[in-house]
Amino acid sequence: MASDQMKYIHFEKGCEPDGLSVQTTPVPALRSREVLVKVFATAINRADILQRRGMYPAPPGESDILGLEASGTVAARADDCTSQWHIGDRVMALLAGGGYAEYVAVPEDVLMPVPSGMSLTTAAGIPEVWLTAYQLLHLVGDLQKGDTVLIHAGGSGVGTAATQLCVYAGCRPIVTAGSQSKLDTALSLGAVAAFNYKQEDFSEKVLEFTNGRGVDLILDCIGASYYEQNMKSIKTEGRWVLYGLLGGGSISGDVLSQILRKRVRITGTTLRVRPLEYKKTLTQRFTQDALPLFKADSSLQLTPIIDSVFPFHKAADAHKSMETNQNTGKIVLQIRHEDTGKTLHDEL
Ligand SMILES: NC(=O)c1ccc[n+]([C@@H]2O[C@H](COP(=O)([O-])OP(=O)(O)OC[C@H]3O[C@@H](n4cnc5c(N)ncnc54)[C@H](OP(=O)(O)O)[C@@H]3O)[C@@H](O)[C@H]2O)c1
Repeated sequence: MASDQMKYIHFEKGCEPDGLSVQTTPVPALRSREVLVKVFATAINRADILQRRGMYPAPPGESDILGLEASGTVAARADDCTSQWHIGDRVMALLAGGGYAEYVAVPEDVLMPVPSGMSLTTAAGIPEVWLTAYQLLHLVGDLQKGDTVLIHAGGSGVGTAATQLCVYAGCRPIVTAGSQSKLDTALSLGAVAAFNYKQEDFSEKVLEFTNGRGVDLILDCIGASYYEQNMKSIKTEGRWVLYGLLGGGSISGDVLSQILRKRVRITGTTLRVRPLEYKKTLTQRFTQDALPLFKADSSLQLTPIIDSVFPFHKAADAHKSMETNQNTGKIVLQIRHEDTGKTLHDEL
């Protein structure tokens, strides 16, 4: 490494997107069993926007720099590292923070290899939403072959990943989204039905599609504004995984009796604040079960859906794009040139 300083995206708590700026800070020091990753790309998540607004601080002891995922190459290893990673290996990882920077320190146990033939820019779109979708379906949602699964925000990063994982697991994903192009993308990824929540009551459509039975599992990142339609859409004894509150977190009325009568199992889940052991297990299971399917020669290929790629110094535009709900799939922030490894900002 030429310098012990690095560039990163700075923010003041509560700032608007235009408050994001490229600044300089020390390269992170490695703690026990950590690997220093030379970051080529990261990607934008809703949590970054909340953190920028001052509503979602980094977990204690973790980097205050934004960024929950990164792809890049191994630049250094702590002396006590035991795993197979070597300097120069192409890796990607879920982070507790720190991705919007030239370097990030990552526990060696949560690194994943970048699928062969995939660019580091594309790989940056995998860790957060694919690990989340895998977790929602398999670790929390108890997905069973043949299940019908209602996936909200079908054009989102998590939604596009969950739809593909459902198809791979022999299940039937039904999605909701707010535009025809997002519905079309979901159908192209294998959704068996797709409904525009802005134009119709999706619960009526879901019940029609399932012959009145309802769905086995709901992946819900919307919350309050969908509560009633979700309750109508879910089958008796269905599973409902709540993992976001884009439509609010406050409901009133006959909620508990509806849950009781339908014997619905509602589970809330988060990822960022989970202990390292949990993330390690999730990463290992995903690496074993799903990562091989990202290879071009796999018979059933999983594809990270990349909406757009913004250069390092345009982080503000990347945030604005997500805030206006325009993206289908991931918004990537490219830090370095894929070929030369030079930081994009150095050329300004
Ligand atoms: N708990 C966890 O472990 C975990 C982990 C990762 C992400 N998340 C959460 O998962 C959600 C999806 O993340 P993502 O990065 O995949 O999202 P994303 O790519 O930014 O897509 C979110 C989409 O949700 C739709 N939406 C927004 N507000 C809505 C509302 N009020 N009602 C209905 N639809 C709405 C919009 O699409 P339309 O055009 O269809 O409206 C928007 O583009 C976020 O809430 C995120 O915080 C949770």
